[in-house]
Amino acid sequence: MDDLQKIIQERHSTRAPFDSQRQVPKSDVKEIIEAGRWAPTAHNMQNFEIIVIDDKKVLEQVGNIKTYPSPDFIRENFEQLSMTEEELLQKRVGILGLGFPPAWRDKAKLEIAMNDKTPGTLSQTMNGSPTVLVVVYDTRKRAPASEGDVLGALSLGCLMENMWLMAQKLDIGFQIMSVFSGPVQKDIKKILKIPEYMAVSFAIRLGYPTTRSRYLRVRRDLESFTYGNEYGKKW
Ligand SMILES: Cc1cc2nc3c(=O)[nH]c(=O)nc-3n(C[C@H](O)[C@H](O)[C@H](O)COP(=O)(O)O)c2cc1C
Repeated sequence: MDDLQKIIQERHSTRAPFDSQRQVPKSDVKEIIEAGRWAPTAHNMQNFEIIVIDDKKVLEQVGNIKTYPSPDFIRENFEQLSMTEEELLQKRVGILGLGFPPAWRDKAKLEIAMNDKTPGTLSQTMNGSPTVLVVVYDTRKRAPASEGDVLGALSLGCLMENMWLMAQKLDIGFQIMSVFSGPVQKDIKKILKIPEYMAVSFAIRLGYPTTRSRYLRVRRDLESFTYGNEYGKKW
């Protein structure tokens, strides 16, 4: 049990560049997907399919897709960021701003950043990853009577966590790339020949970081969100 708690607490987002020359062994990728295969899903609907991209040509094609930062993301991200470690330690939620472009962290430059139409590319997000997993789901299905398929989305989260924990156990860098489910998914679907009725939920970059990627990770105290028998009442 202690081992499980250790893996859970050590699991983290690896945001460093990955070594593009160092392949993730297929057996390890399989092990990660195997962990996902056993994820709990609402009604056991197993509402996911996974496309493994490990062919250099396909990685390059996907990497060439242009991305345009979303003004909503830049604004809401700014509102929630901590600018110093001290601030983050105090808040205990959210992330540190240091990984984002300077203009995204500067209130005076935010408006300019939000209107900046200079495109980036997905290769910047993939950042050397030799293996990318794209998780898709069938938009025509939902968990029984689940409004907006909230239960289906929760199920995809369980898949994500199972795979993430296994990657942690195998000491393989893992980062979620939510950008794959945004407007770029039209281009991604074309390249990967994903049927129209399927949608991208999220993508994962796997690999071995070329630099140390540890950073301050915070969590709230258990007592601050756990109540006994009544909301707000100490347990
Ligand atoms: C649904 C979901 C979407 C996420 N999207 C991204 C993302 O696009 N980019 C990223 O770097 N991290 C992403 N993350 C990772 C979270 O930012 C991260 O888990 C959180 O900040 C806690 O840090 P930790 O993973 O190091 O514990 C996502 C996590 C979840 C669960």
